[in-house]
Amino acid sequence: MSHFSAEQEQTLMGWARRYPYRIMGLLEALRQVQEWRRCVGDQDEEYLAKLFDYPRNHVHELVTFFPGLTLRPTGRYRVGICRGLSCALAGSAAMCRCMEKSLGIKAGETTPDGKFSFETMECIGACDHAPALIVNDKLQGAASEQSISELLERLP
Ligand code: FES
Repeated sequence: MSHFSAEQEQTLMGWARRYPYRIMGLLEALRQVQEWRRCVGDQDEEYLAKLFDYPRNHVHELVTFFPGLTLRPTGRYRVGICRGLSCALAGSAAMCRCMEKSLGIKAGETTPDGKFSFETMECIGACDHAPALIVNDKLQGAASEQSISELLERLP
């Protein structure tokens, strides 16, 4: 018996049928599971390995390779600050410290209430907004002490 609902199973099977190459559907399925569960756990890896007829260790390698996929649950709001070169030159280190202080957690951690997780990232392709700040994959613009404070205030 699967730990996914019947509807979720249908969605995942849809990804398994959609592409000529299994890996393409598997990546979509992993992204989908991450969205549902805020992580891809052991059971999920096991299920997807069977569904896509892919070695379990390869599924695990994908989960640990792609920064968008996590083994442990992220917060409801996944906050990220880029530390790529352009962003570093624009002061991302100070913005990361500001975010850690505001949330009371270190990069890679989740607040105890599960609301926020914070991570640092490599170039996310928004160098013209350096130091780039994103929440749940949506670019928020350039981070500043004020924008961080306003952002955390406004998220329900
Ligand atoms: S270096 Fe930060 S978005 Fe490119």
